[in-house]
Amino acid sequence: MPDVSVGKASDFADPGRKVVDISGTEIGVFRLGDDFFAYHNICPHLDGPACQGKILPCATEDVQPDGTSMGRVFSKTQMNIICPWHGYEFDIRTGKHPTDGRARLRPVNVSVRDGEVYVNVPAR
Ligand code: FES
Repeated sequence: MPDVSVGKASDFADPGRKVVDISGTEIGVFRLGDDFFAYHNICPHLDGPACQGKILPCATEDVQPDGTSMGRVFSKTQMNIICPWHGYEFDIRTGKHPTDGRARLRPVNVSVRDGEVYVNVPAR
């Protein structure tokens, strides 16, 4: 399938996303700064619309060198998409679940040319 435009890069919020339907296939296209990522809108848990969930920074634990926990903090670098059905989280940059290596969103090729964002969905 040829590349399909999903809009101007400047029309995406940062962080932000659009969920588009391309010939019956739903794709979530995400923007983080100057970078774009795209995934099939199907959660690896139970096929929920993972790309339509909240976008939030990854919550991590601030552990000091002596092992003391300073509590939970939001990551300054990792943004996650959270599936609205049961809360599985996925790193927007990799599509991976933070702890289950088998659970990841299925990637779609995305590119930006002349300010326009394109995705390329393989034929079924
Ligand atoms: S379907 Fe996504 S977390 Fe269950």
